[in-house]
Amino acid sequence: MSEPVDRLPQTRVSYESPTFDDPGPTPLDLFRRWYDEAAEHIREPNAMTVSTLDEWGPTSRIVLLKGVDAPGFVFFTDYDSDKGRQLRADPRVALNFPWHDMHRQIRVRGLAEVVAPEDSDSYFAMRPRGSQIAATVSRQSRIVGDRAQMRAEYDAAAARLEGREVPRPESWGGFRVRAFEIEFWQGQRNRFHDRWVFRRSDGSHEPAALSQASAWTPVRLYP
Ligand SMILES: Cc1cc2nc3c(=O)[nH]c(=O)nc-3n(C[C@H](O)[C@H](O)[C@H](O)COP(=O)(O)O)c2cc1C
Repeated sequence: MSEPVDRLPQTRVSYESPTFDDPGPTPLDLFRRWYDEAAEHIREPNAMTVSTLDEWGPTSRIVLLKGVDAPGFVFFTDYDSDKGRQLRADPRVALNFPWHDMHRQIRVRGLAEVVAPEDSDSYFAMRPRGSQIAATVSRQSRIVGDRAQMRAEYDAAAARLEGREVPRPESWGGFRVRAFEIEFWQGQRNRFHDRWVFRRSDGSHEPAALSQASAWTPVRLYP
C-alpha cells in the first residue's frame, strides 16, 4: 500500500535492480528485451504517454502501443482528435513507458507520421466490432451533449451496418513515431540510477531505423 496524499513528502520507494552496464547494440534490441520482461510483470505495458504540442504548449495522454519495428512505434487514434490535429500540424512527439513496478522507464523523442492506409485497414479489421462501431461514431475530443446521445448514435450506426463489415473511418488510423533519441532508465539504490540514452551517431536529430547499430551511440547520463 502507498501513503495518502497528505504524506507525499514522506512517501518513498527504494529502488534496487540488477546492474545495467551494457545497453547492447541497438535501441530495438533493448526495447524488445525490456518489453518482453515488462509483459511478464506489468499489466498493459503497452500503455504509453504520448506528448504533443499546440500553440499553448505540450500536452500528454495515454495511448496503446500496437507495434514496434525498425522504422518506429505505432499507435492508432482519430486523426481529427486533438492529438491527431496536433501531430499533423507539428510532428514533434515524445513517448514515455512508465514501468514503475520494474523501476524502469523508457523515453522516446521523434517525429510522427501517418502510417500507410493499408496498415490502418488491417489493424481496424482486427478490432472487435463494438470498437469499430464506436470509432465510426466518435468524434474524439469534440464536445458531446450526454451519454444518451452517444448511445443513440452508436445504436443507429450498429443498425445501419447490420450484417456488413464496418468500414474504417477515413479519420481513424495509425501514427508511427520515428525516433531520434531513446532513453532507458533503471532505478538503483540511493537514487543513483542507470540511464542509457541512444543518440544519433552523427549528432543529428533525424530519425533513424531502430535496428541500425551504426546510426546510434549509447551514452550514460548522470541520474
Ligand atoms: C489505458 C489507456 C489506453 C488508451 N488507449 C488509447 C488509444 O490507443 N488510442 C486513443 O486514441 N486513445 C486512447 N486512450 C484515450 C486517450 O488517453 C485520450 O483520452 C484520447 O485519445 C483523446 O486525446 P486527445 O483529446 O488529446 O486527442 C487511452 C486511454 C487510456 C487511459
